[in-house]
Amino acid sequence: MNIGVLGCGNVGAALIQLVSSSADEIEGRTGLRLEVTRVAVRSLSKERDVELPAKVFTTDASEVVNDPAVDLVVEVIGGIEPARQLVLDALAAGKPVVTANKELIANHGTELFAASDDAGVDLLFEAAVAGGVPFIRPLRESLVGEDVSRVMGIVNGTTNYILTKMTEEGWTYAEALAEAQSLGYAERDPTADVEGFDAGAKAAIIATIAFGKKVVAGDVSHEGIADISATDIAFANRLGYQIKLLGIAEQFEDESIAVRVHPAMVPDQHPLASVRDSFNAIFLEGEAVGELMFFGRGAGGFPTASAVLGDTVDAAANLAKATHASLGTFAKAKIRTIDDLHYRYYLNLEVSDRPGVLAAVANLFGKHAVSIHSMEQDSLVSDESSSARDAGLARLIFITHEAKESDVRATLHELRDLEAVNSIGSVLRVIENPD
Ligand SMILES: NC(=O)c1ccc[n+]([C@@H]2O[C@H](COP(=O)([O-])OP(=O)(O)OC[C@H]3O[C@@H](n4cnc5c(N)ncnc54)[C@H](OP(=O)(O)O)[C@@H]3O)[C@@H](O)[C@H]2O)c1
Repeated sequence: MNIGVLGCGNVGAALIQLVSSSADEIEGRTGLRLEVTRVAVRSLSKERDVELPAKVFTTDASEVVNDPAVDLVVEVIGGIEPARQLVLDALAAGKPVVTANKELIANHGTELFAASDDAGVDLLFEAAVAGGVPFIRPLRESLVGEDVSRVMGIVNGTTNYILTKMTEEGWTYAEALAEAQSLGYAERDPTADVEGFDAGAKAAIIATIAFGKKVVAGDVSHEGIADISATDIAFANRLGYQIKLLGIAEQFEDESIAVRVHPAMVPDQHPLASVRDSFNAIFLEGEAVGELMFFGRGAGGFPTASAVLGDTVDAAANLAKATHASLGTFAKAKIRTIDDLHYRYYLNLEVSDRPGVLAAVANLFGKHAVSIHSMEQDSLVSDESSSARDAGLARLIFITHEAKESDVRATLHELRDLEAVNSIGSVLRVIENPD
């Protein structure tokens, strides 16, 4: 089984090494011998940590796709074009495709799934959701009859690393981001990670496969972690929560689907609260199965290549049997916007420390039918709070009962206009413990 690999970067080079080191084992188990026979790269002069003859490499990716000796194509270039066209060309030529490209699947998945069905060959993308953590295959195979109601994932290792360091080391957001960049976890431009776009692409793929409806990256509402402060983390921890950036895909009884990415307060007892550093985890709730969690390395060359290799062996075995795993057709999902969702909320306000202010603030909550579960006045001893106290300010932390997002937004809008409110810090949604 000859494999053409498009891209030889972090994932591609690790995959080429894994194919070579595990070829005997795979042959013993499946009867198929995998060999990488063509590799497309951008530059032929770069040093690469792979043992392949120079003639295997080309800068023309379409040459790999169109090589009659290539049976199966792995796309690990990334981005939309030329990856999309190369994948379509490979499928049209009857070659199964394995990709790790979340951006491509989240934006053009249904077009590519249809092309794979038309051609009768596999398009597999396990690594596009949580790197090395198997989730798509369990979801499509083990859980095929399951009525999945909600999937919540920590699917971006960079932001989980930043939040972990802020929590455990007391670092500021900027310090934690700088360290993530120096370790190579975060890009020099960290927007895709910290603003939630990367997690949003993954959440769209999860929603599509979990609910069998077309959800694209543009359907996902995003909030990132850049505004999370040390104060938020300290209060969350004291109240028994960890702050995590979650991608959440949920289906309601009317079959509408909500997909969003935002930081959330996760109770200490919840399995997702213990997911630290750059690890990923996906927590699934299903009617019959109850709760499941998948945990592991969501990024890195070898963990990601491990998932790509699993897909490659699967696709090769299906090709040998002249079969493929159909993804079916996907109708456009009815999207429920975040405004219509209900949560408990954490709100952090800095107000004038004088009589009557609390009543005025509480009055606004009441006006918008947002009922308060608990309230605390600042008692944290920190430099920030003592300087605020000197300025005649106090911090009020509210946790609400379950309220509608649009009502909370309306409350915040009016709170901003209240003369006694100096500033409004983070507004975080609170996740409940599993039943
Ligand atoms: N890295 C991870 O931890 C991770 C995790 C999950 C998913 N993924 C996904 O895996 C994919 C690859 O990621 P990566 O980290 O391996 O990227 P990378 O290190 O930037 O590697 C990209 C490779 O593609 C080659 N390339 C780029 N444009 C090309 C073109 N037009 N024609 C031929 N080759 C081209 C590059 O060639 P040169 O080497 O010559 O520049 C490079 O070898 C992406 O879709 C990414 O989202 C990555």
